[in-house]
Amino acid sequence: MSRSSRLSGFYSLTPAERQRILVDWAELTPEQTASLEGALTLAQADKMVENVVGTYALPLGIATNFVVNGEDVLVPMVIEEPSVVAGASFAAKLARAGGGFHTETTEPLMIGQIQVLDLDDLDAAAEKLLAQKARLIDLANRADPVVVSLHGGARDLEVRAIPQSPAGPMLVAHLIYDCRDAMGANMVNTACEALASLVEEITGGRVNLRILSNLADRRLARARCVIPARALDIEETGPGFAEKPDPSMPGELVARRIVEAYALATVDPYRAATHNKGILNGIDAVVIATGNDWRAVEAGAHAYAARDGQYRSLSTWSLSPDRALVGSLELPLAVGAVGGATRVHPVAKAALQILGVSRARDLAAIIAAVGLAQNLAALRALATEGIQRGHMALHARKG
Ligand code: MEV
Repeated sequence: MSRSSRLSGFYSLTPAERQRILVDWAELTPEQTASLEGALTLAQADKMVENVVGTYALPLGIATNFVVNGEDVLVPMVIEEPSVVAGASFAAKLARAGGGFHTETTEPLMIGQIQVLDLDDLDAAAEKLLAQKARLIDLANRADPVVVSLHGGARDLEVRAIPQSPAGPMLVAHLIYDCRDAMGANMVNTACEALASLVEEITGGRVNLRILSNLADRRLARARCVIPARALDIEETGPGFAEKPDPSMPGELVARRIVEAYALATVDPYRAATHNKGILNGIDAVVIATGNDWRAVEAGAHAYAARDGQYRSLSTWSLSPDRALVGSLELPLAVGAVGGATRVHPVAKAALQILGVSRARDLAAIIAAVGLAQNLAALRALATEGIQRGHMALHARKG
């Protein structure tokens, strides 16, 4: 069935009317539909964390207009901040004019770290570990036969020598682990713990930490979009946006100003932090809606933004030879479509159904597209009318 996410006028409907459209669009079951109104019961919450006394609700909005790899997608976003859902929808409409978002993802590989101390000779210990790689991988894979049966599990072992630290020299073994459709923290941590005594036996050292790294730089998602310049002076009548195109601000000029805004974020950490915060406005909202760990995604994104020693923009913006605006985003996205809260939280299950994804890589691809859209929405507003006008229009709705 071909469905369009271009739901013109969606924002002017009542929540109940929007809900009805969404239920048909995403073919939600009656239970999923009921869950949209915050049906996390105390009993369910009590299974998720400790000392539960209640639940805490946030707005769930739907970003419209997204086309990702040729497919129309409606995007569930959980967020407390006004303008984010409207901004994502607006930017997705601009990107739609250039064919939408195109994405790529790597294999869902996480890194588990095993810290080894009390070693006399780091290089010799590293060699011994690498010589026993097959045995270590085999042992790691015995820890989780289920993921191995799904063609995931430990893939490789790498060793890094750290000659100097406040605790002296140490080795860090990196277990490279394919988590398939899970976020994978538990399976990686379990595998690292399972390896500890064999690592001590092989190296003669002492193992301390055994834990995954949130700098998930083997589990990347990339999104790209091309916005024709004419789309940037498009007339828009949604809430929070200028009602009329400004003749003094043609699309080509907007595109140039967006590239200038990006330029500051790539050289200046003070701007890069805010620029990336705008990207994460979109990313976190989908990560939360789908029951994933947003702190893990935030930690990975910020560490990746500083990977060359300076904290920089996660996205890039440039002009193509025909003056279209070209955007790209690359970041680690450790998200799962199975396990964790995605399995327990009824709204998270409904969110995955709305997105139409069952694979972690497909979810990561859409999240990257939303991050790039959110960045475009912010930069376009900043480079033209300023952020306050749109924000204030939406704040007024709260009165
Ligand atoms: C506000 O939540 C996010 C922005 O500050 C992002 C940006 O400046 O790029 C508008």
